Amino acid sequence: MRGDKIVILTGAGISAESGLGTFRDEGGLWAQHRIEDVATPEAFARNPELVHRFYNLRRAQAAEAEPNAAHHALTRLQAVWPDDVVIVTQNVDGLHEKAGSAAIHMHGALTRALCAKCDARWDAPAQMCRHDRCPHCGTAATRPDIVWFGEMPYHMDEIAAHLQTCAMFVAIGTSGQVYPAAGFVQEAALCGAATVEINMRDSDMSHAFDTHLKGPASKVVPQWVDRLLASA
Ligand code: APR
Repeated sequence: MRGDKIVILTGAGISAESGLGTFRDEGGLWAQHRIEDVATPEAFARNPELVHRFYNLRRAQAAEAEPNAAHHALTRLQAVWPDDVVIVTQNVDGLHEKAGSAAIHMHGALTRALCAKCDARWDAPAQMCRHDRCPHCGTAATRPDIVWFGEMPYHMDEIAAHLQTCAMFVAIGTSGQVYPAAGFVQEAALCGAATVEINMRDSDMSHAFDTHLKGPASKVVPQWVDRLLASA
């Protein structure tokens, strides 16, 4: 049954004002690095040291970063309706948790390590290298617990169930270029949800949303949360 559930999908744009670069904006991460060099299982097999260096740097940057007003506003919203506000994030930076929110991490987390041999997971050290051994099976096959291109995002069944039962779907700071997340708006709309996009500019999926709120997440998200709470 459709209740009052709100599903909020976040992307790199929500963390941009915390000083973390996005992927596809001008000068973004994918302009500085080739995806095929650092974000595929094949890249890791070919050059694990390079891949570890890339994620070690990103882990260090995320550890320094602080959540901004947009992350805090979502925490405020979730505190009022803990059972009805579901945050699904493509981000691996941990800023939702730093702000006090609970989020479903569909692309993994920089703070976690994964054994490519036995699938064990544990807390990642600040710096990882190709000689690190899995604490469970002892193999030196430690990788960041990040979903790379060509891999299946995490928690898809749980996310699909939320999309099918939400009254509202909101996408914040995501370019709509990467599936399956890019298709969530259509899945939710098909099941009857109202859809809202919050972004600095049009995304590749803008056409699929009912409502567009344009501007920086740190301004627009708190305003949207205030309006929502006032109308409740
Ligand atoms: N406020 C709101 N939106 C912003 C802001 C801001 N301050 N800054 C940038 N944006 C928007 C951009 O307009 C763009 O639409 O955020 C979006 C960022 O898009 P991407 O860089 O493509 O990031 P994202 O959509 O999260 O990428 C999806 O791609 O490489 C993978 O796995 C990686 O999870 C990532 C996925």
